[in-house]
Amino acid sequence: MEPLYLGLSVLISLLMSATLVRSETGVSKSSCHFPAIFNFGDSNSDTGGLSAAFGQAPYPNGETYFHTPSGRFSDGRLIVDFIAESLGLPYLSSYLDSLGSNFSHGANFATAGSTIRPQNTTISQSGYSPISLDVQYVQFSDFRKRSQNIRKQGGLFGTSLPKEEDFSQALYTFDIGQNDLTAGPVGCLPYVLDRYLITAAQIDKHGCATPFNDVAQHFNQRLKSALAQLRKELPLAAITYVDVYSVKYTLISQAKKYGFENPLVACCGHGGKYNYNRYNKCGSKKTINGEEIVIAKSCSNPMVKINWDGVHFTEAANKRIFNQIANGFFSDPPIPLRMSCHATGL
Ligand SMILES: *[C@@H]1O[C@H](CO)[C@@H](O)[C@H](O)[C@H]1NC(C)=O
Ligand SMILES: *[C@@H]1O[C@H](CO)[C@@H](O)[C@H](O)[C@H]1NC(C)=O
Repeated sequence: MEPLYLGLSVLISLLMSATLVRSETGVSKSSCHFPAIFNFGDSNSDTGGLSAAFGQAPYPNGETYFHTPSGRFSDGRLIVDFIAESLGLPYLSSYLDSLGSNFSHGANFATAGSTIRPQNTTISQSGYSPISLDVQYVQFSDFRKRSQNIRKQGGLFGTSLPKEEDFSQALYTFDIGQNDLTAGPVGCLPYVLDRYLITAAQIDKHGCATPFNDVAQHFNQRLKSALAQLRKELPLAAITYVDVYSVKYTLISQAKKYGFENPLVACCGHGGKYNYNRYNKCGSKKTINGEEIVIAKSCSNPMVKINWDGVHFTEAANKRIFNQIANGFFSDPPIPLRMSCHATGL
């Protein structure tokens, strides 16, 4: 089920997130009131969408924080969870999760393996989620309309759906694009992104594959220009570009300085130079002498690891990345996340 963005432990994932906030203009620069978060994206911010639709991310996913699989491809919390915590909001329920969900403070439309461009294949053919960004938008529009009619019924419905006015004050976060880069413009099939086909000359001094990182950076440059245009078209929206690429690259290239070990080696996996094998991914089981055992297990201390399963980040890494992002040093315009409703007029 795990999408085919393998090899991302070798190359640094692209990372772009645009935080789109609608707000009143001309407000003084105080902390914003965000009554809700609506998130769109891929596995980097999926809190249960792909798991609800296609089966749970298996244990040891979730082991560090939730102590059970939690729909997240990580040992614990994701950046979007830390964002919610920092704003005093509950973790986001996935729009697709019909069990125990509460959308009073937002909803999460992200699913692991999602791309920006619509998929032409099924998930079993390609490993990519059919819930591409356009589908997530359709789901959001539907949610926005129908939630208001259902909310009027009161009772449990009344307390588990957002208020109409919350939509215009909410924080909208987007973290998607990684799967598009591994699927297409690089000119490689995802399988081809295997580390053996990257020549030594293409590996930088930190062990990362330069050509893939170049594409990710190019993508982010273009994203920045697209956002400049969007600011003109949507003058009432406050749009922030967050350079997650730089944060992640710095973390990986200076892992030791920040208390992490072997940044290119996965914590949860089985074998090989990177403790990553696409046939035996994190949580893979084998039956030996009639007994089912997990062969791709977690490492002894995920707290000192950056890479969780060869593709995704550990909770410890996500927490550090969030802390870097939250202060606004990597944002354009450079204002803290909690004040990002003021990012207008630039
Ligand atoms: C799907 O097919 C269309 C039409 O051929 C193409 O433009 C698009 O790029 C394809 N999408 C992906 C993700 O390959
Ligand atoms: C949903 O969450 C809100 C805020 O956390 C809470 O007040 C409300 O009672 C919850 N609703 C249900 C149906 O659990």
